[in-house]
Amino acid sequence: MFEGRTILLGVSGGIAAYKAGELVRRFVRAGGNVQVVMTANARNFITPLTMQTLSGQPVCTDLFDLGLESQIGHIQVARAAHLIVLAPATANLIAKMASGIADDYLTTVLLAATAPIVVCPAMNVRMYENQVTQRNLETLRHMGCHIVEPESGELACKEEGTGRLAELTAIMETACRVLTPPTLKDRRILVSAGPTWEAFDPVRYISNPSTGKMGYALATVAARRSAHVHLVSGPTYLQPPHGVNMHRVVTALQMQECILDLAPGMDAIIMAAAVGDYRPAEALPQKVKKLDGDLSVKLLRNPDILAGLGRSRSEGQVLIGFAAETENLIENAREKLVQKRLDFIVANNLGNPGSGFGCDTNEVKIIRPVGDIEELPRMAKERVAGEILDRIEALLANTRTYGES
Ligand code: CTP
Repeated sequence: MFEGRTILLGVSGGIAAYKAGELVRRFVRAGGNVQVVMTANARNFITPLTMQTLSGQPVCTDLFDLGLESQIGHIQVARAAHLIVLAPATANLIAKMASGIADDYLTTVLLAATAPIVVCPAMNVRMYENQVTQRNLETLRHMGCHIVEPESGELACKEEGTGRLAELTAIMETACRVLTPPTLKDRRILVSAGPTWEAFDPVRYISNPSTGKMGYALATVAARRSAHVHLVSGPTYLQPPHGVNMHRVVTALQMQECILDLAPGMDAIIMAAAVGDYRPAEALPQKVKKLDGDLSVKLLRNPDILAGLGRSRSEGQVLIGFAAETENLIENAREKLVQKRLDFIVANNLGNPGSGFGCDTNEVKIIRPVGDIEELPRMAKERVAGEILDRIEALLANTRTYGES
């Protein structure tokens, strides 16, 4: 995510400063080069030694430290950053930024830097709600800073309210989005993900082993590219990706209703969900007690959502399906591609190790109505998602943005 990028992490003095250490680790793990700059007050909460150990770089604290200044001048620090993340950003730091005050290392670097700035406020709820703080945040927004809103809940001061530092995942995703070219800006993308559950009684259902990882990766990467993403998800344990519109459903019929509702406004629809093809004819209201002997359950066919979308798609709308197969991968996938009238189908062989349900990687083939089959190597699902979205972007480049005249 951050390979070859220098992230300047500015830490100011609030209790949430202890979380900045974990943030450094996450940026480093994601390939980033992290330069930490700490205010004097931040050093009361977490030591520069901790941050230096985690980042592997000297920490900038004192503008007048002759040794450090001769090694890496503060203007050079400001210039080297591809992105600045301020976490936690106290009310004081936000006020200084809004007024252009440069009275320590961090505020001086902020004034000299041209990189995009992500501000993650964390403070007491009254300080956060104070109109001066709100006005200052508005000023920062006008200046082009990206604000990661604090969360609500119990604060360190035991008060309840908004002011807790945002989840680190939300901070990472915002940072990633700011650095990702907005190649899907103004595009509306619908992704379906996960399994469906077809209930037989209140405690039993028919389903499949889909975890939703591929669909969630597609939604995550599309959101990073600035698309408006709607994720229609069957039951999964995954956290909703940051910045997408979540629609939770359980059954195939619910998924169909939700998707058909959203579909007309979409530039592209990607059906990554493992939709159950059958549902029990009856969902019994009480738990079925076992009796001697076997039990037969009548199953009804569920609608094929993707085939329906293929029939009703609007001019220029891109439609992508998945084909999960255990045999005759290419023939079966081709048949679905044609029957469901898709732009391309992403085929994967469930028998391959590192491919399909539950894996963090996938090895897929992309099949179009005409032309050669593209075979992609096994890679992380987020990278597969990137490859699929690159191809959707190419298709969309030939069409107008939905709603444009
Ligand atoms: N799909 C769908 N509605 C269904 C079944 C599948 O929209 N009732 C979509 C899936 O989301 C996927 C594609 O159709 O994008 C192919 O799904 P798959 O399960 O591989 O194939 P099926 O069409 O269900 O055919 P079969 O189960 O016979 O292989």
